[in-house]
Amino acid sequence: MKRARRQPPRPAPSRPPGKSDSGAAMAGKFSELRARLTEAEEALRAIRTGEVDAVVTAGKKGLQVFTLEGAEHAYRVLIESMNEGALTLTTDQTILYANRCFARMVKRPLEQVLGGSFRRFLSAEDRDKLRPLMKRPGKSGAKIQVQLKAGDGSQMPAQISLRPLARNGSNRATIGMVVTDMTAARRTEELLRTLTHRIVQAQEAERGRVALELHDHITQLVCAILVRSQTLANKLSAHDGSLKQEAITLREMLGKTAGEVERISRNLRPSVLDELGLVAVLRDTSTEFAERTGVSVQLACVELTARLPADTELTLYRILQEALKNVERHARARNVTVQLTRRAAFVQLAVRDDGIGFDPNHHAARRNGNGGLGLLSMSERATYSGGALKVKSARRDSIGKAGTEIEVRIPLGKTRAGGAENSLMELAETPGN
Ligand SMILES: Nc1ncnc2c1ncn2[C@@H]1O[C@H](COP(=O)(O)OP(=O)(O)O)[C@@H](O)[C@H]1O
Ligand SMILES: [Mg+2]
Repeated sequence: MKRARRQPPRPAPSRPPGKSDSGAAMAGKFSELRARLTEAEEALRAIRTGEVDAVVTAGKKGLQVFTLEGAEHAYRVLIESMNEGALTLTTDQTILYANRCFARMVKRPLEQVLGGSFRRFLSAEDRDKLRPLMKRPGKSGAKIQVQLKAGDGSQMPAQISLRPLARNGSNRATIGMVVTDMTAARRTEELLRTLTHRIVQAQEAERGRVALELHDHITQLVCAILVRSQTLANKLSAHDGSLKQEAITLREMLGKTAGEVERISRNLRPSVLDELGLVAVLRDTSTEFAERTGVSVQLACVELTARLPADTELTLYRILQEALKNVERHARARNVTVQLTRRAAFVQLAVRDDGIGFDPNHHAARRNGNGGLGLLSMSERATYSGGALKVKSARRDSIGKAGTEIEVRIPLGKTRAGGAENSLMELAETPGN
């Protein structure tokens, strides 16, 4: 796309010709006419060399756009038939060209769009995001997500893709921009997130049920057998030799079985969480992890004066569980720090290890596209509680301190549960579902 050129009307001659034209006035008129001729010749040259693909003139009826059809006609037809907004702009965001789809997106006549600033379609926050990218979009371009403001006051989620275009002999660089309507994509994301949350909720309920069954039935039963085997071992005298030894071994094995069943039940749904709250369960989990794996765990928890919302407590506990599972499976760490911080507006959990680290953007699971649901589920849980998860990691082969840090921050008094119900109802009502 080439540059559009605006030609503002020249001011009328200061005095009507004829009457008492002095030599000085005539000279003034000549120089004005010469300037206009130079400008016209320059415009003609720009049109001939293809630097211009539309001319915008200011007339009595406001701005008028004249499109020039040339060798680029085929591309223009293609761009006009696109389902995305396509624009060219100067780096200071003056719109040189926009296709009709963009005009439809912002619900304004094309004439009002051309020659104006792109900034008017963005909020102050999005303008701040776009400004540096317009100045330096990078050779391979840049993408940002914004809310596009339309002429009727409505807003539309959109993705803006930028690319620098050739300068075409002019000294003002132009930027090519594609604006994609993200309304459907956002809706699908929202529904997927809602469904994921539903699955997590169902999984939690099922885990709770199995934990209760294990605790109420299997553990009770194993304990009863344990007591019996103890009695048996006591009743057998030293004379019974190998028989007594067998009974003692049996009792020890049953003791281990009871412990293992209890551990599985606790991992499925720790009763401590429901009864004593988050800090107690973080302490229990850390202690059990340190004893079992030999990795030293340092716990730094604030004392919570009141219970947090049940959903938040469960989210933080599950994230710790998943993070420790990763330390055990992947990190080869010696030390782990678990830190719980609480401020008026949020609660934060950080799990740091001094292990081998990894590249969060290119880890194995992400590359293969299979498995590796741990980090994803942590992030989903955090998002669903209204918060966010950050993963920082440095590999052991890199300079500096190696290790991984998982940090989750959840605002207090803000979850997405209500939104989830609504989205699911909408999903059920969508025809074809
Ligand atoms: N604490 C950690 N230390 C080193 N690597 C890690 C750590 N946590 C995660 N990773 C890397 O990130 C990948 C993805 O983790 P995750 O999503 O939990 O999936 P999974 O544990 O099933 O592989 C792991 O396979 C591992 O390569
Ligand atoms: Mg994992």
